[in-house]
Amino acid sequence: MHQRIAIITGSSSGIGKAFLELLAGDNGSSGRTPFDEIWAVGRRLDALEEIAKSISTVKVVPIAADLSDDQGISIIENKLRDEEPEVGLLINSAGMGIKGRVMDKSPDALDNTISINCNALSRMIRITVPYMKSGKGRPEIINIGSSAGFLPQPGFACYAASKSYVISFSRAMSCELKPKGINVLVVCPGPVATDFQRRATEGKAADFTGWRKMFVIDPVKLSQASLKASYRGRKILVYPFSQKLLHLASKIIPTSWMLFFAGNANNKEQ
Ligand SMILES: NC(=O)c1ccc[n+]([C@@H]2O[C@H](COP(=O)([O-])OP(=O)(O)OC[C@H]3O[C@@H](n4cnc5c(N)ncnc54)[C@H](OP(=O)(O)O)[C@@H]3O)[C@@H](O)[C@H]2O)c1
Repeated sequence: MHQRIAIITGSSSGIGKAFLELLAGDNGSSGRTPFDEIWAVGRRLDALEEIAKSISTVKVVPIAADLSDDQGISIIENKLRDEEPEVGLLINSAGMGIKGRVMDKSPDALDNTISINCNALSRMIRITVPYMKSGKGRPEIINIGSSAGFLPQPGFACYAASKSYVISFSRAMSCELKPKGINVLVVCPGPVATDFQRRATEGKAADFTGWRKMFVIDPVKLSQASLKASYRGRKILVYPFSQKLLHLASKIIPTSWMLFFAGNANNKEQ
């Protein structure tokens, strides 16, 4: 019999790790049939192994793969081909951002952001969907976007544009995959308390600063809300309420005004 699995990218830390721990603790109370295995993907094998060791409720399979290149994607693709599991859930949480003006950043930093945030997410869906079947429950895809994707952001341009891609791609995929009975949810959080900010500022700021600090949320709460929304068949989750206001503002306030505000806010943070 084929194993029924969940795959979580970015599960070595932050939001992906929160998803992994929540799913591992889910004994069916969420309504989902528990998974036989969870494939936990990230580059840091030691971190993945440590998390796997701390979980005893389900088999966690740590997979070291750099998803920003073809070889990393092939590791997952080959494992799927060899084991032919049934994939019940794919969570694309791997991602990164780089703060600062584009002309001050290396070409590689731009490439890496687009590769992991856009290419890897798209390719993970492309290679995983053939293994999704509406058997024990509706297959689900959860893509982690960002409220940064609602608008262009001077000072965070590449990241914001990459998350616009995630939102647009996810919305289109939810239509394309509907006939297969697969639900696609895109999650758009504001600032979340993870390692993201430290990495995005190349170690200069461990935490969010300025006005963003007031809106920081817990990764566990975000993951809980996302799993619930996905199970209910929602297509987009803007979380928490403060980000819904930003979403609304992005639709009704002229982009030039929003650009002025976003540019000023990001400049102050650098
Ligand atoms: N934190 C926030 O404020 C915030 C807000 C909105 C959206 N998001 C989004 O949430 C997602 C998760 O971020 P986070 O906040 O949890 O930050 P995080 O703690 O830095 O986690 C990022 C995860 O992505 C993985 N990753 C990065 N590059 C990778 C690569 N090339 N190949 C494979 N895995 C890679 C990392 O694993 P390794 O280091 O082991 O490779 C790590 O597990 C991202 O898509 C981010 O854009 C975050």
